[in-house]
Amino acid sequence: QQIPVTLIPGDGIGPEIVDVVERVFDALGNPFAWDKQQAGLNAFEKSGDLLPETTLSSIRQTGLALKGPLTTPIGGGFRSVNVRLRETFQLYANVRPARTIVPGGRYEKIDLVMVRENLEGLYVGHEHYVPIGDDAHAVAMATGINTRAGSRRIAKFAFDYAVRNNRKKVTIVHKANVLKALTGLFLETAKQVGLNYADQIEFNDRIVDACAMQLVLNPWQFDVLVSTNLFGDILSDQIAGLVGGLGMAPGANIGEGAAIFEAVHGSAPDIAGQGLANPTALLLAAALMAEHKGLHKVARDLRDAIDATVATVDGRTADIGGKVSTSKYGDLLIERIRDK
Ligand code: NAI
Ligand code: MG
Repeated sequence: QQIPVTLIPGDGIGPEIVDVVERVFDALGNPFAWDKQQAGLNAFEKSGDLLPETTLSSIRQTGLALKGPLTTPIGGGFRSVNVRLRETFQLYANVRPARTIVPGGRYEKIDLVMVRENLEGLYVGHEHYVPIGDDAHAVAMATGINTRAGSRRIAKFAFDYAVRNNRKKVTIVHKANVLKALTGLFLETAKQVGLNYADQIEFNDRIVDACAMQLVLNPWQFDVLVSTNLFGDILSDQIAGLVGGLGMAPGANIGEGAAIFEAVHGSAPDIAGQGLANPTALLLAAALMAEHKGLHKVARDLRDAIDATVATVDGRTADIGGKVSTSKYGDLLIERIRDK
């Protein structure tokens, strides 16, 4: 019984890396039935819409999407497709695991997860210039909104995630010493939630700036981190940097009724169509999706194949110091999976 998934190839390197995902999942026994849909610049050029209704209705039906990177045109007042998807499907949790896969980097044995609130905080978009008419003294304002309900929901998600994935500790990241209301509410609520898990999961809290420093000095002290939208956005890129950068970083956007999985990186127009793209981030996103649907063996087999392939330099794409092309890397993964 295949699980229906909306598959969005996207722009730039998107189609090349999605092709590898399709071939690798064929080798893994085809657990997903892909419904291929368009979004991004390519969709805009065909239909005049960055996020066509047919794509939205596919996700409404499947409740599950794997998304290649999308190019949002600069200028013209286009809203980010990613933000629209988050809002449309109320994808309140953004999950970014970071695990060392390529040995010999700056950090070995990193294994941590950032859980970011994805709908509230300073990203609600209540931003404006104060009309005082004098450009030299211009004033800009932004409003952040955190709610008790939203904070409780993301904290509960983080602790449940920790329990489900055999994690030991959750660190609540905030700036409650300065933003006493906005992030104080979040901290207080998250701690209350944490008390309900006291027999299973340890928790502590960190002020965001100190946390950023600690992530560089001693990242091994962390396990699961949970934070508000802006801090989570920044720290999750920092965490991706600990494990070799964009080509290796997957992400999940999870809501009550839908979940969308993606690579953290963008459409990389500078290398598109040259066989230079690393499909690992999107493959790892697909592994997260498999786990989300309880397909733990599929996820494990895929991760094992990736680990074994990038363990030596002749299994690596250029961004992580090798010479293997995008599609050849796919071939190597498929050989590993078949030989198992
Ligand atoms: P980018 O992530 O596309 O590229 C940054 C750098 O990393 C480039 O040098 C690129 O070649 C390299 N890179 C990225 N992914 C790679 C991979 N898988 N393998 C090897 N190298 C890789 O970020 P950039 O250039 O700022 O954005 C390009 C476009 O992507 C923009 O239109 C932006 O809006 C969009 N974007 C879309 C995202 C999404 O759909 N989730 C996320 C971020 C950006
Ligand atoms: Mg970001």
